[in-house]
Amino acid sequence: MRERIEELLHEIEELKAQKMQDIEEYRIKLLGKKGSVTKLFEDFREILPEQKREFGQKLNALKQAAAAKLDELREKLEENPSQEEAKFDYTKPGDRFDLGTRHPISITREEIISIFSKFGYAVAEGPEIEDDWHVFGALNFPPEHPARDMQDTFFVSQAGGDNPILLRTHTSSVQVRAMEKMPLPIRIICPGRVFRNEAISARAHCIFHQVEGLYIDKNVSFADLKQAILLFAKEMFGEDSKIRLRPSYFPFTEPSAEVDVSCNICKGKGCNICKGTGWLEIMGCGMVDPNVLEASGIDPKEYSGFAFGMGVERIAMLKWQVKDLRHYFENDVRFLREFETVV
Ligand code: DAH
Repeated sequence: MRERIEELLHEIEELKAQKMQDIEEYRIKLLGKKGSVTKLFEDFREILPEQKREFGQKLNALKQAAAAKLDELREKLEENPSQEEAKFDYTKPGDRFDLGTRHPISITREEIISIFSKFGYAVAEGPEIEDDWHVFGALNFPPEHPARDMQDTFFVSQAGGDNPILLRTHTSSVQVRAMEKMPLPIRIICPGRVFRNEAISARAHCIFHQVEGLYIDKNVSFADLKQAILLFAKEMFGEDSKIRLRPSYFPFTEPSAEVDVSCNICKGKGCNICKGTGWLEIMGCGMVDPNVLEASGIDPKEYSGFAFGMGVERIAMLKWQVKDLRHYFENDVRFLREFETVV
């Protein structure tokens, strides 16, 4: 042990430090939990009682020498920082990180969800790869309906005979899945991606996003539908927004309507966004057709409901006056940065 103490004393004497980190490393090596000085203190427990006095003193002196040397090195460095540390200017401003921004479609989808969650709607999702039954059959589309045509629908596989696998063309398919398995009453919105075989242009794309809404309970009326949509329009486009409903046709709703909101740019006076009409079309809606309820095992004599469906791209275009749908898919940062400040 004597030699080891001498050796360490010598080692300590020779220590040199370039930077603070060196000193910390020495401290750990000597005095840390597994340090060489600490180790000697452990060995000390084993030595003969008559030697304890001598070695006790020597070990304490060694420990003090180590601590004193580290203090000395630290002081020296503080007075005269090493070249490397001196070069670093701590007052320099840091590098700027480019923060990512949320995509306008995500922003709009989140806003639609948050408005309807305030009205008590839960979010439901379904598969993008669906079968004919959930996209068309259960929604009362007759077998020869043109929407089922190859021209509109991307088919994945003809396996399944008259129930082929395809990419869903609308989120109304999630209605069917919800009606099949959720307990009544049902109050949901279904955001999701949909696919149609369309030529890409400023007004059409083969991939886009929709939000479907569905409310089924006893005694749900058309007035409830109108009120829900009016409240949504006011939250989305401003308190003074008005809506109007135009009769329309969808196989899965009866009666059906298309909804226009008063143009929030010209406040209904007429401008080039609303093509001089003062109104902008925002969604389709209607009372769920009794055939649709029945197809999913719900008794239309006891329950009624309404449904609506809107395009997220369309809502975002109206909100921010985006003129070309393709901007949403091209990931041009000059376009995406426009939404940096939208929270
Ligand atoms: N699924 C329709 C579409 O893709 C939108 C729609 C219209 C949904 C009326 C509905 C509805 O729920 O009632 O064009």
